[in-house]
Amino acid sequence: MSIPKIDACLKAYKYLFRPDLLRGNVAFITGGGSGIGFRIAEILMRHECDTVIASRNFARLKAASEQLECATGRKCLPVEMDVRNSEDVSNAVDLAMDQFKQINILVNNAAGNFLAPLSGMSSNAYRTILDIDTVGTFNTSTTVYEQFLKDNGGVIVNISATLAHRGQVLQAHSGTAKAAVDALTKHMAVEWGPDRVRVVGVAPGPIAETEGNTRLGGDCYRDHHIPLGRVGTKEEIANIVLFVASEAGSLISGETIVADGGAWMTMPNGMKEIADLMKGKARSML
Ligand code: NAP
Ligand code: COA
Repeated sequence: MSIPKIDACLKAYKYLFRPDLLRGNVAFITGGGSGIGFRIAEILMRHECDTVIASRNFARLKAASEQLECATGRKCLPVEMDVRNSEDVSNAVDLAMDQFKQINILVNNAAGNFLAPLSGMSSNAYRTILDIDTVGTFNTSTTVYEQFLKDNGGVIVNISATLAHRGQVLQAHSGTAKAAVDALTKHMAVEWGPDRVRVVGVAPGPIAETEGNTRLGGDCYRDHHIPLGRVGTKEEIANIVLFVASEAGSLISGETIVADGGAWMTMPNGMKEIADLMKGKARSML
């Protein structure tokens, strides 16, 4: 597989929490080789956590892990796996356990998405997104739970989205997949709470300099569409994941925290508004 684009670590990071906040912890981050997942890995590592980053493109993961280790001085194990394949996931978690003997934090961040109207969408296209986002979250969570969390406790953070909060054109596949992830967050929190496992969702809005934002036409939106007047940064999402994964979030479970500057309440979500915004760009799909 080719290496698309390698993310860069932050040139400067302002610590909001104690730098040793996650000392002694290991985090397993799906999709940690790029975008928001890469920044989550970096910020957790900057707080003395070791990490495993797992996804399909091993060449990119390896390059990412080298950068992360160099910038933070912590260990980062790159592992190839497809979250849709439970055998892959099981092998990847075995490798992580061989190396670190523990996985205290699981971040389910891997996802797939594209812009597509419901009309004309193939069953396989729809299923593919549910498989990656929802079944992938199920596969990784149940595997890490059985192998470590069940007997030791820990935290699962599910990266979600707000697409289903009001309904969003061209996003039915991802909206339903993430809504199911939010439900899974509650189900896992209830079933595994007695084992001292907390399960928390974090739902970003549009985040600058990400694949997600680029492929979903994020550059078509304007700052005035968002109450806080700007899109978010990967660092802001990573800081929230750090907070919920740490002892600072010790009473939070079963909830999905929206981090979008209020965007889901005011961003255009209808066919005509989106068509106008995207002008010629996506008209072929509308
Ligand atoms: P991204 O860089 O494309 O991240 C997605 C990651 O998932 C990639 O590293 C990819 O790596 C991995 N992945 C995809 N399919 C996989 C599979 N089948 N098995 C294992 N790994 C897989 O996109 P992003 O924008 O940072 O998105 C990260 C998360 O934030 C997603 O959950 C997304 O839904 C959520 N989110 C993003 C935004 C935004 O504005 N960007 C807004 C709301 C929510 P490989 O290609 O190596 O597999
Ligand atoms: N519009 C409509 N359907 C689409 C599509 C689009 N833009 N892109 C893919 N599909 C369909 C395919 O045609 C196929 O359906 P078919 O068999 O009926 O033709 C189905 O989706 C699966 O596509 P495929 O390319 O085989 O899937 P994949 O498993 O190789 O890749 C994707 C998964 C499509 C989600 C790919 O874009 C991906 O790997 N994305 C990861 C990165 C990402 O999406 N980042 C943003 C996260 S928010």
